[in-house]
Amino acid sequence: MANPVEIEKRSLLKGASLAVVTAGLIVPSAIAASREKHQRSEKQPEVTPPEDLMREHGVLNRVLLVYEAGLRKFDSNEDFDPAVITGGAQIVRDFIENYHEEQEEHAVFPRFKQAGKMVALVDILVAQHKAGRQVTDRVFQYAPGSRKDGDERRQTVTAIRSSATAVATMRAPLGSSAVTSTAATALPSDLKTR
Ligand SMILES: [Fe+2]
Repeated sequence: MANPVEIEKRSLLKGASLAVVTAGLIVPSAIAASREKHQRSEKQPEVTPPEDLMREHGVLNRVLLVYEAGLRKFDSNEDFDPAVITGGAQIVRDFIENYHEEQEEHAVFPRFKQAGKMVALVDILVAQHKAGRQVTDRVFQYAPGSRKDGDERRQTVTAIRSSATAVATMRAPLGSSAVTSTAATALPSDLKTR
């Protein structure tokens, strides 16, 4: 049976996906991922916390693909509805920042600090989360006016590029299999199973 955290996560994913669809957009991979995870959880054991965090990073990776598609359209002077970008930013805000990162900051990072493990890395990740929120703020601010070439498009492109760079850095510590296995080994025992 799914635990309350899993149910809350599903609700967030479902809500975020619906928000994108309502805006006239389609992010099929995010919707399919949510549906698939729901179906899978009915017949397979719960994943471990480190694996769960890695899978959630996959949502962010998918939004980045949407962002990058927008940048390619801008580069080739093709029309691109900026609601696609703001829809992606809403998923980042709702699921990644307000759920995933909140979980890391309140349920995971304090345990590492308490155990005296990977403390420097945790501090870097917290700083990256904060910077990521500022990037999302900028995307919300400038993307709606980015359909036409001009300052707002340039600001949007700059924000997205800095987001991609930040995420690539963030992905390295907790997303790469080598470091994730290190983190899993270092994970305090009460988080290794849930
Ligand atoms: Fe994370």
